[in-house]
Amino acid sequence: MMSRSPVRRPHLKGSPAKRRARVRRRRRAPVVAEPALAVATAKESASLKTTLQDEPAVTAERAIRDTLAEAEEIEMLLGEEVDEEEPAGEEEAYFIKAPGQTRPRSGARPARGISGSAPEERAAGAVPKPARPAAVPPGPIAVTGGPRGAGPAGPSAEEEEEAAHLFPRNLNTAYPVAVRAEGIWIHDAAGRKYLDGCSGAVVCSIGHGVEEVAAVMTGQARRLAFAHSSQFITREAMGLASRVAALAPGDMKKTGRVYLVSGGSEAVETAIKLARQYHVETGRPGKSKIIARWQSYHGSTMGALAVTGNVARRALYQPMFAPMPHIPPCYCYRCPYGLEFPSCGTACVEDLETAIRQEGPDTVAAFIAEPVVGATLGAVPAVEGYWQRAREICTKHDVLLIADEVMTGVGRTGRNFAVDHFRVVPDLIVTGKGLSGGYAPLGAVIARGFVADALKAGRGYFEHGFTYSANPLSAAVGSAVLDYLAKNNLIARASRMGKVLGGKLQALKRHPLVGDVRGLGMMWGLEIVKDRKTREPFPPSLKASRRLYDLCLLEGLLIYPGSGTREGQDGDHFIIAPPFTITGAEIDDLVARLDRGLKALAAALR
Ligand SMILES: Cc1ncc(COP(=O)(O)O)c(C=O)c1O
Repeated sequence: MMSRSPVRRPHLKGSPAKRRARVRRRRRAPVVAEPALAVATAKESASLKTTLQDEPAVTAERAIRDTLAEAEEIEMLLGEEVDEEEPAGEEEAYFIKAPGQTRPRSGARPARGISGSAPEERAAGAVPKPARPAAVPPGPIAVTGGPRGAGPAGPSAEEEEEAAHLFPRNLNTAYPVAVRAEGIWIHDAAGRKYLDGCSGAVVCSIGHGVEEVAAVMTGQARRLAFAHSSQFITREAMGLASRVAALAPGDMKKTGRVYLVSGGSEAVETAIKLARQYHVETGRPGKSKIIARWQSYHGSTMGALAVTGNVARRALYQPMFAPMPHIPPCYCYRCPYGLEFPSCGTACVEDLETAIRQEGPDTVAAFIAEPVVGATLGAVPAVEGYWQRAREICTKHDVLLIADEVMTGVGRTGRNFAVDHFRVVPDLIVTGKGLSGGYAPLGAVIARGFVADALKAGRGYFEHGFTYSANPLSAAVGSAVLDYLAKNNLIARASRMGKVLGGKLQALKRHPLVGDVRGLGMMWGLEIVKDRKTREPFPPSLKASRRLYDLCLLEGLLIYPGSGTREGQDGDHFIIAPPFTITGAEIDDLVARLDRGLKALAAALR
């Protein structure tokens, strides 16, 4: 066994018997993120009073009334079974306790999401023990941002030991161990469950644990798990390509060619290389630049990162990739030009033409943008007219228009693709995430026919490829997910239930720190501000969105946090984007947990 540093692994001190006793004690320890948060929780009700006092009463009340009325109206119009299910929480509530507190305060609210029976109750046989693999012991809830093993929120000794060889996303974070999931719920090894309010990273469109997809996956794995794309094509890849093309807009339906890869970053790499090769094949070898936008995210690989406009994600690797031109985003809440729509004349898209001219049209291969900016701005849709004008400018200068729909594609915004809202046909659409709904690594590029034709007439092949391009197992899973979406009419449902969700999120503006609520379909973003009037963000040192993540985790709710919302420097936002299958009662549950998380954040930041 490898030797371990006693400094980094203090739990390994002492005899095995002592260590086991310590683990048992820690499992019984109250769930507290950090002392400050425990105090924050205790301050909750006082904070609510202050919150309501701070708010101009009439405006806030009217806003809430209006949004609730709108949501009710939508529910009525839908005639949906929005309240047909019991609020979630069939498992016993697990209380957040202040240090030293062993019983819930009288009148204290349960942290319903971190539900799952308390270890003592399980030991007494009061509640059925949730299934978990024998090798994974239960442990206290992990809270991100806290040092590993620090305080009662750290992982158990067994968990630490088991994770010793895994290179996790953050080496200083104690993550809960996920063991199973169904519907909108993810369960951890400690028997707690979390409402998946953001579908992971806006991935799980059809919800977790869909049997039909699992059945297709196992059948396919037995029949044909792999065939290399340089040697074979497969029925599975052809089937998925046809289904994806059928979802695409305009002439893509008929002429579209679909290049299948393993995820969003690979799909972006594929699209920008395809744009470059297209121009070389058509006699314009000078065209190599891809214009992108600040405040965008296009992926983690070097090419995708070069076009990404998120300052923080670029900074470390910037010396390693080719510089690409960036223009300001379409972001009305913090308009980079200090203007207002529509009197602004959509100056942001006009800058695309300026950039093309400045760079020289003969050097620009493509323009890439997200129709609804996801990770780095928090669900900000383009204004009406932006994409139509971008289309005109690109056509005029022989620049390919690439819509990055990795997050928005395949129904997330309530339409097949987000560009459908803007009635525009790009030259390339990049997609991923919801394409497989998280059931397999999968991404795709849809190219209009003329792009593929140019390669066919030129070299004849695409100078590109991955071992797992057009993988039959992933392709079969993708088709099963698309079939499930169609059979259950889930894209239309994302649109309908997304309006209900949006209405209820709008009502959270009663919290003074919620500066803006925006989104489309089942993809919503909330921006957190220190001062709603001036839109001044909290200082980055307060890590407001990260703290909200932790507080929501204590409420058993998963959200997708982001920062650098204002020019990549400061600002906080988060995304709410549950599976399309979420019911009305589950939306209420999600919003109630978020409401409590926001109250706790307000108290913590006071
Ligand atoms: C718009 C967009 N493009 C590309 C990517 C990269 O996708 P992946 O993480 O699957 O590589 C993401 C991921 O969040 C994304 O949101």
